[in-house]
Amino acid sequence: AEVKKIAVIAGDGIGPEVVGEAIKVLKKTEELFGYKFELEHGLFGGIAIDEKGTPLPQETLDICQRADAVLLGAVGGPKWDNNSKELRPETGLLGIRKALGLFSNIRPAVVFDCLKDASTLKPEVLEGTDLIVVRELTGGIYFGEKFRREGAGGQEAIDTCVYNVQEIERIVRQGFEIAQKRRKKLASVDKANVLETSRLWRETVNKIAPEYPDVELEHVLVDNCAMQLLRRPSSFDVIVTENMFGDILSDEAAMLTGSIGMLSSASLGEGSFGLYEPVHGSAPDIAGQGISNPIATILSVALMFQLTFGYAEAAEVIERAVKQVLDAGHRTGDIAVDKSQAIGTTAMGDLIVAAMVR
Ligand code: NAD
Ligand code: IPM
Ligand code: MN
Repeated sequence: AEVKKIAVIAGDGIGPEVVGEAIKVLKKTEELFGYKFELEHGLFGGIAIDEKGTPLPQETLDICQRADAVLLGAVGGPKWDNNSKELRPETGLLGIRKALGLFSNIRPAVVFDCLKDASTLKPEVLEGTDLIVVRELTGGIYFGEKFRREGAGGQEAIDTCVYNVQEIERIVRQGFEIAQKRRKKLASVDKANVLETSRLWRETVNKIAPEYPDVELEHVLVDNCAMQLLRRPSSFDVIVTENMFGDILSDEAAMLTGSIGMLSSASLGEGSFGLYEPVHGSAPDIAGQGISNPIATILSVALMFQLTFGYAEAAEVIERAVKQVLDAGHRTGDIAVDKSQAIGTTAMGDLIVAAMVR
């Protein structure tokens, strides 16, 4: 079989733990399907700051650029929280997304029936929830000019938010196209009552909407959306939004599924290349204890198979295995109702691997 190159950048905190379980899933897929994955590991985030003096070493970027896909854990932690911007793990994360041109971040939030009791929301509200947040990933306030200056009231900090029509169009088209393959409903989320970037966003959405007549479009202000996500989550299909709103709303959507430890993501550009990572961070509060939930990262591998490699059947095998293990009642602490019954990271990974059958 053709060899697929995967850059593996495990990162900090629980990153290496959850990525370790995802690698087991890759190995099992090789056995089941005869596929070949060549893994190349790179230093990234806080550990790269410690060992190389920069969160995103050139060598790591090179590894990613010669790969077909990237598997990422998470970065960050208290050790580096007071560093200057250049020496922050998070700066490396923004840098890798920008350098690889990954403007589209796809974050599915699907409520497994058997996990309805794991959420803090009422089961009847969660019934049938299956949505995707399509988050713009390389623009907006994250990437606008930032600076400090002296003002009349002391030091001032400035973050600028910039979007051009091209950037808006390409992500909104992604939203429409994904909606066309699903329940054909698109919610475009903005703050057009206040922000100029949001007004340009909304104008652009309205301009291209006639090209997708089969998709039912609603504009939702972001504050209202935050509320509606808890009130009527199952009515959402695809949500398309700018960088920071997407960051916040996807963590909120995670809690519909029971835990942020369940949410996978794909970051894509123009071609089939993609970076796959869980939505959660390095979870310093539980790092090193072997109790983190590896499912978000394992489901990110399923997304990699679907979106970059075109291995649809292998993706289904992973998703089915996850569902089967959850249906059987196995839970990591974050999704366990009875915490005393919770299993650890490697036990969960092993069960999922064992449940993978063609
Ligand atoms: P976090 O997502 O790391 O953790 C939030 C809470 O969720 C914590 O209580 C944590 O224990 C729990 N949690 C997260 N993932 C879990 C999992 N797989 N299983 C069980 N529980 C899980 O967010 P935070 O605490 O705000 O951030 C911690 C660090 O991670 C910060 O340095 C932040 O910048 C960084 N971060 C990185 C990424 C990334 O690399 N993509 C994403 C978000 C945050
Ligand atoms: C995420 C994270 C990152 C973001 C941080 C760590 C830079 O929260 O991937 O959601 O805000 O994009
Ligand atoms: Mn986030």
